[in-house]
Amino acid sequence: MRLTILGGGGFRVPLVYGALLADRGAGRVTRVVLHDVDAARLDAMTRVLAEQAAGVPDAPEVAATTDLDEALTGAGFVFSAIRVGGLAGRAEDERVALAEGVLGQETVGAGGIAYGLRTVPVAEDIARRVARLAPDAWVINFTNPAGLVTEAMSRHLGDRVIGICDSPVGLGRRVARALGADPDRAQVDYVGLNHLGWVRALRVDGRDQLPRLLADPALLGSFEEGRLFGADWLAALGAIPNEYLHYYYFDREAVRAYREADRTRGAFLRDQQHGFYAAMRDPAAPALATWDRTRAEREATYMAENRETAGAGEREPEDLSGGYEKIALALMRAVARDERTTLVLNVRNRGTLAALDADAVIEVPCLVDANGAHPLAADPLPAHAAGLVTAVKAVEREVLEAARTGSRAAALRAFALHPLVDSVTVARRLLDGYARAHPGLAHLR
Ligand code: G6P
Ligand code: MN
Repeated sequence: MRLTILGGGGFRVPLVYGALLADRGAGRVTRVVLHDVDAARLDAMTRVLAEQAAGVPDAPEVAATTDLDEALTGAGFVFSAIRVGGLAGRAEDERVALAEGVLGQETVGAGGIAYGLRTVPVAEDIARRVARLAPDAWVINFTNPAGLVTEAMSRHLGDRVIGICDSPVGLGRRVARALGADPDRAQVDYVGLNHLGWVRALRVDGRDQLPRLLADPALLGSFEEGRLFGADWLAALGAIPNEYLHYYYFDREAVRAYREADRTRGAFLRDQQHGFYAAMRDPAAPALATWDRTRAEREATYMAENRETAGAGEREPEDLSGGYEKIALALMRAVARDERTTLVLNVRNRGTLAALDADAVIEVPCLVDANGAHPLAADPLPAHAAGLVTAVKAVEREVLEAARTGSRAAALRAFALHPLVDSVTVARRLLDGYARAHPGLAHLR
């Protein structure tokens, strides 16, 4: 089977390839086509992958191209992990927002809106091409903001595009471990939007164990989200939020920490990856070792500012390895081999959450088989969560409209109506600031 990776020169491609190398099952991926707009990045990644494959019998063969249509034609699966505007664009998103005193994170708040505005048109173009050139392919979208981008692509691909994120899976496993439960046997009740969901129950043999966790400050202090949000707030809230809700519940502290930091996350990654790709221009450089060192540094510093304001300390060693590639592979296997499994994915709501319409992409446990991903029934959201989810989905819809029609009014509504933007005046300045920073947004009228 053939897998095409869009953003194939991107930094996390070796994680995916590593997972493919470990897969010995029938019907596995035998050919990987990397697509990127940047040939030098493709060269760098091809070298890392070649070192990974050394000595592995029947390693999937790797080809690279800058021709999108060629990459898509004949694909069985398409992984989309692109970054429109690169990490320089991400750093700009943060800078413009922080200058206005609001959050510039790549998926949350003003930064997520700016990133969405420039990414949606590119994602829709890709989706249209897939529909034409590889109509039977399954598209697995990792591109952030993952929920919004998946919804944009679903307008052309229906249920053949599925969005993934490793945050909910990591959260579910951490909660299970804190409770002494087997993460593979625990049933996690998690629902919301991407980077905006809550664990509301964790059932082992049908019995909810979460109340025991919420009542025990020591247990709550034993894992990442417990330390990030604090035992007292989690007990009061009665659920364990996705780590990205730290930006909502501790907005002031997060904004202050990012303003005081030497460099924002995007600027740090921009400089770090610039160093990596520059090093790869030396043909004698050890590709895999250099990549792995860079990866370890990236993972250790993930959400460092948030953890610092919360006094949460370092990340646990078992949280460092990510898992995003494991979810992608599990999803692909379930679909390709009809291996039924349950995964938290970004799919169309249908009737799952009454607060949202049928086409809204939500993040929810799904039953996956050869027919795709089917959301499992979920209890209604409590009012505070339904409020946030509907507000943020409404903002996403404005982004989709602005991207499609070029409407400045829709873009202004997106910024102004976001719960983390506190004034229409600020929203207007954000829009102007982003239009100056990203020439691609100058078309908004
Ligand atoms: C988590 C998030 C992803 C994000 C990744 C890397 O896994 O769920 O959406 O892409 O972290 O974040 P970073 O800040 O290192 O780019
Ligand atoms: Mn994510």
